[in-house]
Amino acid sequence: MSTFQAPKGTYDLIPPRSAVFLAVRDTIATQVRNAGYGYVETPGFEDVNLFARGVGESTDIVTKEMYTLTTKGGDQLALRPEGTASVLRAALQANLHKQGNLPVKLWYSGSYYRYERAQAGRYRHFSQVGAEAIGAEDPALDAELIILADQAYRALGLRQYRILLNSLGDKECRPVYREALQTFLRGLDLDEETLRRAEINPLRVLDDKRVDVQKQLVDAPLLRDYLCDACKAYHEQVRELITAAGVVFEDDLKLVRGLDYYTRTTFEFVHDGLGSQSAVGGGGRYDGLSEMIGGPALPSVGWALGVDRTVLALEAEGVTLDLPAPTSVFAVALGEEARRVLFGKVTELRRAGIAADFSFGGKGLKGSMKDANRSGARLTLVAGERDLAEGVVQLKDMESGEQRAVALDEVLEAVRAQLA
Ligand code: HAM
Repeated sequence: MSTFQAPKGTYDLIPPRSAVFLAVRDTIATQVRNAGYGYVETPGFEDVNLFARGVGESTDIVTKEMYTLTTKGGDQLALRPEGTASVLRAALQANLHKQGNLPVKLWYSGSYYRYERAQAGRYRHFSQVGAEAIGAEDPALDAELIILADQAYRALGLRQYRILLNSLGDKECRPVYREALQTFLRGLDLDEETLRRAEINPLRVLDDKRVDVQKQLVDAPLLRDYLCDACKAYHEQVRELITAAGVVFEDDLKLVRGLDYYTRTTFEFVHDGLGSQSAVGGGGRYDGLSEMIGGPALPSVGWALGVDRTVLALEAEGVTLDLPAPTSVFAVALGEEARRVLFGKVTELRRAGIAADFSFGGKGLKGSMKDANRSGARLTLVAGERDLAEGVVQLKDMESGEQRAVALDEVLEAVRAQLA
């Protein structure tokens, strides 16, 4: 291992690409904030049982991918593999659900950890922005979240994504389907591990990527044919609401998600330019999760969008975001006196809210102008001894190349006018 290598399955966000990550987070956050979601932040680790019970004992996330640790005090913790269980735990702890304002709508942004087989688009440390609407059973809420995610991707300029939609039924109809599926799976020619999975979590077998398994699944019973009337009606309303909003989706009757808490509405946003790790976001309804972690019945729905994969999707589509240049004005000082004066001007500009930077490191004119170019600044301020003797600095427009002398005490006004 080379000394400067980040751990396997992780990478660093560095400029200029890091600015795109911030813009993606910000764009998603803007949509949910605008829809009444309040910001929540929970710890990076939780009691391991929260995820074991919430995400599901038989899921890959819990059995294979969790970073668990025992503290010196003997507590069993896990780095959070996802956000939903934590956010619900936090809402229950703070009694947010008892304040008569259901649904409680929360959004979050942060790092998540899964010990996965690392590959392009699949990391051990990744970033999500998520939204959860807790404590209401209302198809409009499911629709709201799907529409907001769609709006976020559209606002970013993404085009080549698709929305896959399914219903996983509820505690009335799913067990009946589960049994029918199990009976079907027991009759197939499957390896031992898959047969074991069929006993614990048969729906996950539908998600098996192997061609020989998929071939055998062609005639598998479909959950759609087992949905109870209430689930059918609920799903139909969700479909109608998002259709009315102009959101295009595909019914995907085999869509199952990698977490056990889902009921009824489930959806995934997939991007066609990403190869095998195509899911840029996903979510659904989790009406039973609160009870699974020891809380009261609180039907809820939410999603999480993967920031890393959204950035990859932007790159795959060749979308460049309209990011403001980090620096508007770059100051180039020639000589000690000019350094003192221009450093003061940079401070003055920054205090006035103008993004400004300075030629640090005592470089000559050529090196400093290179820095100015690299900074992307619209304007440069250049001053040497002769300018100072005349009480001026040179203000140069980097786009037009025009340059003029500006009196020292008029720099702020001149810069303001020229940037406007
Ligand atoms: P998830 O589908 O496991 O759902 O993750 C959501 C998104 O996070 C994925 O679509 C993907 O973009 C990103 N993601 C997941 N794992 C990785 C990884 N190893 N590397 C890079 N990106 C990854 C959840 O986490 C649920 N908590 C979503 C939810 C919220 N359901 C209801 N509320």
